[in-house]
Amino acid sequence: MSNKQIYYCRPVFRPPSEGNSLLIQLTEGCSFKCDFCMSNLRKNFKIRSVDEVKKDLDIGARSKYSSSVRKLFFLDGNAMVTPVAKLLELTKYAMMNFPNLERVGVYAHAKDILKKSDDDLKALSDAGLKIAYVGFETGSDELLKMVHKNATKMDFINASKKLMKADITLSATFINGLGGAGNEDISKVHALESADLVNKICPDNDRIWYIAFLSLMVPPGTVMHERKLRNEFKEMKSYEILLELKLFIETINFTNKSANCIFRSNHASNYLPLRGVLERDKSKILNLIDYGLNNKEILKAEHYRAL
Ligand SMILES: C[S@@+](CC[C@H](N)C(=O)[O-])C[C@H]1O[C@@H](n2cnc3c(N)ncnc32)[C@H](O)[C@@H]1O
Ligand code: SF4
Repeated sequence: MSNKQIYYCRPVFRPPSEGNSLLIQLTEGCSFKCDFCMSNLRKNFKIRSVDEVKKDLDIGARSKYSSSVRKLFFLDGNAMVTPVAKLLELTKYAMMNFPNLERVGVYAHAKDILKKSDDDLKALSDAGLKIAYVGFETGSDELLKMVHKNATKMDFINASKKLMKADITLSATFINGLGGAGNEDISKVHALESADLVNKICPDNDRIWYIAFLSLMVPPGTVMHERKLRNEFKEMKSYEILLELKLFIETINFTNKSANCIFRSNHASNYLPLRGVLERDKSKILNLIDYGLNNKEILKAEHYRAL
């Protein structure tokens, strides 16, 4: 590695909303192995050393663009797995070396949030780690087991509450179509349990939190793809995905009616881009879903979908 260039182990994994952030490789791949995910393909999981990461931060800080860095994201699929002392040291180092850095973000599996104490999370938040992107995928324990997510609905509830208590913004993702075609019951439970999960984590204050839906893609190399090749798994059609999403939105019912839950389904994998505040914009979102269901020509063509 040249000492003038920041090191990357490609392909890197980052949320779309961190597209303009400085990306720093803290971990490589992921310590988990969910059936649908590509994070581990062609990568051996690794947490890089403090010295290696600091070298990359130094390179970024010396660049003529360093004063324009406002957001930094520690790669890869689950940097929250990093032991707290190390993550804290690197977050502090980043905040110290970039004069206008406002926040550091990570992907975080629920189990790795739960392993950290409230004090650990508060220390990380105070140091500058202000957003965690957590893959919920579904609120259905049965489906979570089926895709080997290694977490339960209760884990997501507890992890979300811990993040909010520490003042770390939660950005959670669900996957429409996760249960596959041909099983309406799984799809229904997926929608209902996911909405129940979101209802249960809704804070009683006006803090902003994010819920995003992606639509399942089945990339080659994943366990799910192998199942598809064996005809054991079939993807849902776009209208089935929309019906599933519709049931989710219909079931949202917050006790706190002035909650600030930003909902999005504008990821490249989605058939219909949607955006709004739950549950304030519920009827607007439902009308758009109905419009999509009745006008299939406006839905994204299969070949334009991507992860
Ligand atoms: C790179 S993962 C990181 C999430 C974090 N490791 C966790 O599990 O909490 C980001 C998210 O992308 C989504 N994702 C990954 N593979 C997908 C696929 N094949 N189809 C649709 N969404 C997918 C999932 O919601 C996943 O949680
Ligand atoms: S979804 Fe998250 S935890 Fe699961 S393999 Fe991908 S990056 Fe790892």
